[in-house]
Amino acid sequence: MSAPLVEVSAISRTYSMRSGMFGRAAAVHAVDGVSLTIARGQTLGLVGESGSGKSTTGRIVLGLEPPDSGEVRFDGKPMAAPGTAAWRAQRARMQMIFQDPLGALDRRLPVATQIREPLDIHGVGTPSMREDRVRELLRAVELTPAHGARYPGALSGGQRQRIVLARALATKPDFLVCDEPVSALDVSIQAQVVNLLADLQAQLGLTLLFISHDLRVVRQISNVVAVMYLGRIVEIGSADDLFARPEHPYTQALVSASPAPGRRSASRIVLSGDPPNPAARPQGCAFHPRCPRAIARCASEVPALEAVASDRQVACHLVSGAATRDAA
Ligand SMILES: Nc1ncnc2c1ncn2[C@@H]1O[C@H](COP(=O)(O)OP(=O)(O)OP(=O)(O)O)[C@@H](O)[C@H]1O
Ligand SMILES: [Mg+2]
Repeated sequence: MSAPLVEVSAISRTYSMRSGMFGRAAAVHAVDGVSLTIARGQTLGLVGESGSGKSTTGRIVLGLEPPDSGEVRFDGKPMAAPGTAAWRAQRARMQMIFQDPLGALDRRLPVATQIREPLDIHGVGTPSMREDRVRELLRAVELTPAHGARYPGALSGGQRQRIVLARALATKPDFLVCDEPVSALDVSIQAQVVNLLADLQAQLGLTLLFISHDLRVVRQISNVVAVMYLGRIVEIGSADDLFARPEHPYTQALVSASPAPGRRSASRIVLSGDPPNPAARPQGCAFHPRCPRAIARCASEVPALEAVASDRQVACHLVSGAATRDAA
């Protein structure tokens, strides 16, 4: 078996945040000891509420910002120092797609010009070969050369995100980080764009880090899902199994709140307590003030992420092997 394309080891990132004009600076542990691997051709879905550290993780994985500690390896090698030739070579193999396609595009240029831009920058082939490649990319995202002649303002949100995808694929990357790529689109369009992404992934052998707060969307494309809560991974496992049998009380609440065929809304778990505040992370298990099953130990001791099955890790005193061990 080949080594994973992406290996993230214990990355952490702290920001200092001032609350109010005269407030004291507080440390925000945006990402705290996150480890994960993404196998070639697979999709890792990263879920969690707003502020849980998903985007920060994505930026560190892409080398857009350094971690305070920990390491990211891409294709077996550590991320090179920004600005070096080795870094440019690594970066050329990675692309990102964000939530807002209009923000990612230049309103003053026809979209075909924007798809061609990375090919021009890297001097790929002759000008006519680049024109051919742009047409091929437009077809790949199920648009036509006529769409290419338009300006971003004359396309729908879904069409714009297809253009962003075409441009991301122009230089034939191996790895895409998609950060809430369909969250700004109509629900009716979301599934289409995610299906397209999944088809292209299969055709091109792409590896994806797919970030979303929307479990429905993550479920559609992910092989493995990691659940974040206040900067830490609380549960990770293969997608079908995790959605069918969530172990962490937080994952259980998320899954129960996400509509799925065949499940009655009566089974929904409603979380009590305040939504998570990254600047005031609770002691012990950060989730314990909202956890319906918390015990005394949860308030004092941070649960480690431990394997509870061959393909599942959970950070919870009530779930891990530790719970049974302690009871014995
Ligand atoms: N550049 C920064 N400076 C200061 N604080 C930051 C910065 N980037 C992120 N943070 C803080 O780090 C925490 C995690 O943010 P992040 O954007 O990674 O969360 P997220 O899971 O992507 O949330 P969302 O679902 O809202 O996009 C938040 O509390 C955020 O305010
Ligand atoms: Mg985000």
